[in-house]
Amino acid sequence: MIDTESVSCETCTAPTPGMIDASDEASRAWPRVDIDANPYKEAFPLFAERPDIAFLDSAATAQRPSCVLDAQKRFYETMNANPLRGLYSLSVEATEAIAGVRAQIARLIGAVDERDRAQASEIVFTRNTSEALNLVAKAFAPGVLKPGDEVAITIMEHHSNLIPWQQACRAAGATLVYLYPTKTGELTDEEIAAKIGPKTKIVAATMVSNVLGCRVPVEKLGRAVHAHGGYLVVDAAQSVPHMPVDVREIGADFLAFSAHKALGPMGVGVLWGRMELLDAAEPFLTGGEMIDSVTEQDAVWAPVPEKFEAGTQDAAGIYATGVALDYLVNEVGYDAIQAREQALVHYAMSRMVELPYVEILGSIYWDRHHGVISFNVRGIHPHDVASILDMDGVCIRAGHHCAQPLLAWMECENLACCRASLAFYNDRADIDRFIEGLENVWNTFH
Ligand code: ALA
Repeated sequence: MIDTESVSCETCTAPTPGMIDASDEASRAWPRVDIDANPYKEAFPLFAERPDIAFLDSAATAQRPSCVLDAQKRFYETMNANPLRGLYSLSVEATEAIAGVRAQIARLIGAVDERDRAQASEIVFTRNTSEALNLVAKAFAPGVLKPGDEVAITIMEHHSNLIPWQQACRAAGATLVYLYPTKTGELTDEEIAAKIGPKTKIVAATMVSNVLGCRVPVEKLGRAVHAHGGYLVVDAAQSVPHMPVDVREIGADFLAFSAHKALGPMGVGVLWGRMELLDAAEPFLTGGEMIDSVTEQDAVWAPVPEKFEAGTQDAAGIYATGVALDYLVNEVGYDAIQAREQALVHYAMSRMVELPYVEILGSIYWDRHHGVISFNVRGIHPHDVASILDMDGVCIRAGHHCAQPLLAWMECENLACCRASLAFYNDRADIDRFIEGLENVWNTFH
């Protein structure tokens, strides 16, 4: 564990060098995974094509294994037809391929009934997490929010789970309330009790912050809002790629994630919602295939999920998403993913604290960072840090990370910071290149 003693301020402040305390219980408990070996990289064609890069931006988008790329091609080569529309067998095959992925995802996130049957029709395909969360805020929330009501979100939200709620509150005359964590990203029981009350109709929260990497106690938020008859919306974009997510255990009413962060293609998002809530909501987009019948002046909606899936879906992308999730969960497995990512984070942070000019944001505890380490290099603009690292082939993200209110709250200069984000396909060599790159950044300016 990294020593806390010498840390004066927990946010935007670096632990001083050499702070790994070997006598600490948690330090001994870090996963002993062999991060020198990398049994995963060869499954990812990009790493063979681009051996020059150390990819540390998986929170923005993951790389894809060849089975996912092959699946997309296979769809177009062997079953391409517009799903739902055709009565011929090719179209039926495409329809069934999508239906299979719906059931697979329902099972993956625990959307099953009391007899363990997957509730596939509770899975709505969207383009991404942003669209899924917009759907909840624009199609479900107006039926729930009245003037004087409150929607509570955390200050750690990505703009995707923030701006839709600003708009929903504005439209309804409701108030947007923020929950603030401690400076290390902990949401305390006191803060939850203070901010979630009888006026709270909706709590919308990320399960893992895309900036701080911390796990948000969404279960507690769910219990608090349910006690007042409200609903919990969970942004699982940064959790599904890294850890098991079960909507029943969390107590979610809606949950959204994107395929592209979980090894799948870009352009496919998932919204899960409880059927009675989806059923009661108005459609978000209207048009093809989301209707039962249409007359000159009116239309009757198709049942859920088609009601929310206007227009032709990215059928090949959805099919490949099924392959991606199967690879993630069954071939690699969450246990291996978590152990390896924690070992990588531990190694990266233990090297970063040796650099006195590097300031780690959020928790100084490695086990609170789920694949994400945000930081600054003292006195150097994050864009310069990222550009110089790029010259060494190291890919990180720099900027506001679509979380400007969080960066403002953390008083990050220029509303910007750097972020290295890891996945199980990284290894020690990637981290070493990153650390050498940081030394090079510092030396370039000094
Ligand atoms: N939401 C993605 C990120 O945090 C794009 O980088």
